Amino acid sequence: MTHNKMIPVVAIDGPSASGKGTVAQRVAKALGFHYLDSGALYRLVALKSLQEDIEIADEAKLAEIAANLNVAFENDEIFLDNCRVTDEIRTEECGVVASKLASYHRVRESLVARQRAFRKSPGLVADGRDMGSVIFPDAVLKVFLTASAEIRAQRRYKQLMEKGINANIKVLLEDIRVRDDRDSNRSVAPLQKSMDARLLDTTSLSILQAQNCVLEWYKASCANRRV
Ligand code: CDP
Repeated sequence: MTHNKMIPVVAIDGPSASGKGTVAQRVAKALGFHYLDSGALYRLVALKSLQEDIEIADEAKLAEIAANLNVAFENDEIFLDNCRVTDEIRTEECGVVASKLASYHRVRESLVARQRAFRKSPGLVADGRDMGSVIFPDAVLKVFLTASAEIRAQRRYKQLMEKGINANIKVLLEDIRVRDDRDSNRSVAPLQKSMDARLLDTTSLSILQAQNCVLEWYKASCANRRV
């Protein structure tokens, strides 16, 4: 069964480059759970639209691309139409286009079932913007993971450099601010901390500290569910 309410979900939402992907992956590994990088799906739609030269204003065509994406997630690799695109989708160009097309209701709708299909036994850690609010509203733990824009720009810079992708820290900071603004102010599934999400500010935390905090919270929420 692909959408079993008994299978626990940990939803980790937050702004661009907050480190939620790294934390979510490590938490998934520690718990032996599956992992959903929902942002990768938006980036894949962006990449495909760039490959096909689709206008960013063409919502219907972008929704069609989203509905028919031929993708495979295998271990740490991502394939689009059988080609490895793991690094290609991480460019800032893909990120910016992804953020723009993610504001379209029809694009988001086209990706809902695909995201819920990741909910498989023994559990799922999902990271994105609307994991706790829209895709998995019954998640056992919802975390809103953030950090200051400056720290996030530094982290993104380091991440891109490690991948051999050239970047400029000032441009990255500006891009993060613009993206925050767009993601937070869109009318569909805006990036916001929901009432039932726990805030985790990682500005002065290491990855390990952030990971341990989420694991502690997960244990506590499981214990609470049992009483
Ligand atoms: O890497 P970064 O944190 O910047 O972004 P990402 O998680 O790879 O997602 C790329 C873009 O997809 C974001 O800027 C969001 O606009 C959008 N997105 C979304 O709207 N909803 C999600 N659940 C995940 C990503």
